[in-house]
Amino acid sequence: MSEWKTICAVSDIPVLGSRRVKRPAGPEVALFRTSDDTVFALLDRCPHKGGPLSQGIVFGDKVACPLHNWTIALDSGLAQAPDEGCTAKFSVRVEAGQVLLCEAELANIGLEFEPLKAGPCTRSC
Ligand code: FES
Repeated sequence: MSEWKTICAVSDIPVLGSRRVKRPAGPEVALFRTSDDTVFALLDRCPHKGGPLSQGIVFGDKVACPLHNWTIALDSGLAQAPDEGCTAKFSVRVEAGQVLLCEAELANIGLEFEPLKAGPCTRSC
C-alpha cells in the first residue's frame, strides 16, 4: 500500500506554470498546473538532452522544453511526434486542495540521473 506525502497546495503552483520538488537524490520533480487546475508531476528532465521541463511553457496538457522546444505530454511524459522519448511521470493525488505524491515513487524514480546543476561552467575548454 502506497504512502502519500503532502507536497504543497494546488494554489502554490502557478496556473500554466510549475513548481519543483527537491528530493534527497536524483533530479527534482516538476509539478505542473494546467488552466483547469489539473496537476501533473514529471521528472524535471527532458528526454532529449536533460533540459529542465519546469522552466518550460505549459500549454493545454503539455509543456514545451525551454532548451530545444520539444513538446512533452504532462499525463504520460511522452515526447510528441516527430520527437521520440519519454520522461518519467509520478502519480499525483489532490485532496482538499493539497497535492500529494507517492513516497515510494519519490524514493525510486529517476535516481539513475544526476540532479541538474546551475551555475558557471567548470570544464576547461
Ligand atoms: S533538452 Fe529538451 S528539447 Fe532538448
